[in-house]
Amino acid sequence: MRYLIAALVLVSSSSVLGDPIKDAVEARQGYFIMLSTNMHPLSAMAKGELDYDEAAAAMYGSNIEVLSQYTLPMHFPKGSSTGELGKATGAKAKIWTNFEDFNQKFADFQKAAEGAGESVKGGKNNVGPVVQKIGKTCKACHDEYRVKND
Ligand code: HEC
Repeated sequence: MRYLIAALVLVSSSSVLGDPIKDAVEARQGYFIMLSTNMHPLSAMAKGELDYDEAAAAMYGSNIEVLSQYTLPMHFPKGSSTGELGKATGAKAKIWTNFEDFNQKFADFQKAAEGAGESVKGGKNNVGPVVQKIGKTCKACHDEYRVKND
């Protein structure tokens, strides 16, 4: 009986907490989708594919800034690379052998995102430089640490 209760407690607590690895992957992928959902319209405004709208641009820029303050690396626990999870993730195993550099690349993104909400104000021509500055830091990390599975 004692074992049965222990087993039940285990089952119920794991269903409440979920699988920490799966949760981490979903959390970081959702985070990146939020980032790109805000980057895309800014990039389209810079290219003239979307009419410049100062209030909207400032909102996207501020959202990216706010997101950049989040401690994303906490959602990269060991055991969550393509090595263990296959196509469920795009996170290369070398993230964990270069974790300091990975953190540095995230810090570079944080720095680039500083002031984005204000910098995109004042006209379409102000959007491009912001998108480029931030976009470079997305690419720098992806080039090293991400594989595209789709
Ligand atoms: C510090 C490294 C790093 C930075 C900076 C970074 N990314 Fe990523 N990105 C990753 C990794 C690693 C993955 C794969 C995550 C996974 O699948 O578990 C990823 C995945 C993604 C995905 C795919 C999410 C999905 O649906 O699975 C998108 C979109 C994305 N990033 C956009 C961006 C954008 C836009 C920026 C910059 C504004 C950015 N990333 C900055 C490392 C980074």
